[in-house]
Amino acid sequence: MARYYPQSKVEIDGFAAKRYDALMDIISFGMYERFLRSTIENMEINDGEAVVDLGCGTGRNACLMRSYIGEKGYLLGLDISDIMKKQFEKKCLSYGNVDFKTQRIDQPFKLDRKFDRAFISFVLHGFPQEVRRTIAQNVHNNLKSGGKFCIWDFNEFSLKEMPFYYRIPFKTVECVYAFDFIKRDWKALLTDWGFGNFRETAMFKGYARLLIAEKQ
Ligand SMILES: C[S@@+](CC[C@H](N)C(=O)[O-])C[C@H]1O[C@@H](n2cnc3c(N)ncnc32)[C@H](O)[C@@H]1O
Repeated sequence: MARYYPQSKVEIDGFAAKRYDALMDIISFGMYERFLRSTIENMEINDGEAVVDLGCGTGRNACLMRSYIGEKGYLLGLDISDIMKKQFEKKCLSYGNVDFKTQRIDQPFKLDRKFDRAFISFVLHGFPQEVRRTIAQNVHNNLKSGGKFCIWDFNEFSLKEMPFYYRIPFKTVECVYAFDFIKRDWKALLTDWGFGNFRETAMFKGYARLLIAEKQ
């Protein structure tokens, strides 16, 4: 897979892509599934909604969201990785209302329909700021009016004030873009980019957050 952002850690390939779910379970000491379930519950997805998952990975998130959208909803996963695509298809394509599309999210795109909700989980932090702006613009263009942009990612926090036993792993595992992401005022940025009416849930000692922003 061609890497567009050599410093980023979200362009996952090879062994890490093949074993992504297991690695997340190991890194989180088995807590990832619980955080994921509670995040998706907190999104308050309604039966029948159309959801697009940007940088959908293996389909683990999509399968959980599928139980909320039910038979009448629709879920589309977007990703660039063929290894992720295979896992997504194995997990999710038995559902008639779940699809995968190979799609770069860092370049402008228009989907065949408008969505009630866009979900992006631990992807946005891994890009330069101007690319995050493009991703948010893509979300805005592909959401219905009043549609919800659900960002599950790192929260805003000071690296200096983070206890060393979290800071060292964070600095080891994460990239320069993540160090920049945590310093930004995301509600102010999203307001400038056409979103508002925010709702947020912090988790993992406040270092992660689900931020829900409505398309204005
Ligand atoms: C850190 S993983 C997160 C996967 C998934 N969202 C999750 O929470 O399990 C990042 C994902 O983003 C995808 N990705 C990276 N760059 C992308 C791009 N430019 N367009 C679409 N997907 C991308 C990767 O292939 C990978 O599946």
